[in-house]
Amino acid sequence: MASSTSSFVASSLVVHLLLVGTSSAHTLKTGFYSASCPNVFDVIKPIVKSAISGEKRLGASLLRLFFHDCFVNGCDASVLLDDTGNFIGEKTAGPNNNSIRGFNVVDKIKKKIEKACPGVVSCADILAIAARDSVVILGGPNWEVKLGRRDSRTASRSKANTDIPPPTSNLTRLIANFSSQGLSVKDMVALSGGHTIGQARCTSFRGHIYNDTNIDSSFAKTRQANCPKRTGSGDKNLAPLDLQTPTLFDNNYFKNLLNHKGLLHSDQELFNNGATDSQVKSYASSINTFFSDFVTAMIKMGDIKPLTGSKGEIRKNCRKIN
Ligand code: HEM
Ligand SMILES: *[C@@H]1O[C@H](CO)[C@@H](O)[C@H](O)[C@H]1NC(C)=O
Ligand SMILES: *[C@@H]1O[C@H](CO)[C@@H](O)[C@H](O)[C@H]1NC(C)=O
Ligand SMILES: *[C@@H]1O[C@H](CO)[C@@H](O)[C@H](O)[C@H]1NC(C)=O
Ligand SMILES: *[C@@H]1O[C@H](CO)[C@@H](O)[C@H](O)[C@H]1NC(C)=O
Repeated sequence: MASSTSSFVASSLVVHLLLVGTSSAHTLKTGFYSASCPNVFDVIKPIVKSAISGEKRLGASLLRLFFHDCFVNGCDASVLLDDTGNFIGEKTAGPNNNSIRGFNVVDKIKKKIEKACPGVVSCADILAIAARDSVVILGGPNWEVKLGRRDSRTASRSKANTDIPPPTSNLTRLIANFSSQGLSVKDMVALSGGHTIGQARCTSFRGHIYNDTNIDSSFAKTRQANCPKRTGSGDKNLAPLDLQTPTLFDNNYFKNLLNHKGLLHSDQELFNNGATDSQVKSYASSINTFFSDFVTAMIKMGDIKPLTGSKGEIRKNCRKIN
């Protein structure tokens, strides 16, 4: 009896050690491909660079793809799966439909990576690296990207609809939705600084420029000129999220908020006499503080529920499961 108890204790200790061992072996790490695909960064960066030199906005689009991937069941490249006759992906979810872009760049990267290291580098990791490279190329901070994510065999349009906050969100909702992902208020404000680059469609900011009061009136008028009031007219017309330097990763996004020149309702919520005002002010006055907090938050976002070990797969084509 005593001996069977102690052997049970001993064997469960072994199981426990094994579990701890595997779980730490399966956390993301920066050197994940250092033996299996040492050139991974040298393959990806030039492709991102040439895409951005062809069209600056693609850097913003790639950064956003990573965010929309990570917020829906974790950073697993689910956002990249195409809809087919019998598969509903995330590309047609409300926050994504006619909005997310950059897929051709990802395809280009995947093709080249498959030549260099066949079957080794996940699409989820490609998104993480391409997002970082985009930020760096557009003048933002650099960081070491943690790797080892694997690709999902599933996607969820419904979760994409509920887990990615809409631009009509108030501060309470932004905080709640980021908190569901394990991200703090501080992370949320820092990550919103991603809107220092890129564009939004009229349909995403119409309510803010016609109906809100916490907006500079001359800025609202300027934006109204290319975004008609009536739903359905000019819905796709674009405006820069950062009116000053939309292709430069800097802290002007936060300076704009101080002047009530945020483009989205959700942007201006971060500086609207609330709990996050002081953080916006701090980023507006110190680009270094913003960069440092942005990096911390990007790494945290990249850690959301990755598939590791033998979970998921390494897709051959980022648009479909193997
Ligand atoms: C805080 C909550 C957020 C909301 C409500 C939000 C909402 C939006 C909306 C509505 C657009 C414009 C889409 C369109 O009209 O087609 C947009 C664009 C963008 N978002 Fe966000 N976003 C948020 C957080 C983030 C985060 C965390 C990042 C990355 C760190 C990010 C990066 C971008 C970028 C770079 C663009 C421009 C994309 C392009 O030009 O292709 N956003 N966002
Ligand atoms: C996505 O947009 C297309 C074209 O605007 C539209 O026809 C389609 O119904 C939308 N898909 C969904 C799922 O809403
Ligand atoms: C914020 O938005 C949520 C739903 O999106 C709503 O339930 C709540 O009443 C709003 N809070 C405030 C203070 O407006
Ligand atoms: C996001 O916030 C809204 C409104 O507060 C809430 O209804 C929804 O469940 C939240 N989603 C997540 C994933 O936190
Ligand atoms: C502005 O608010 C009014 C009243 O709530 C609403 O009927 C109208 O559709 C809104 N307009 C825009 C452009 O959001």
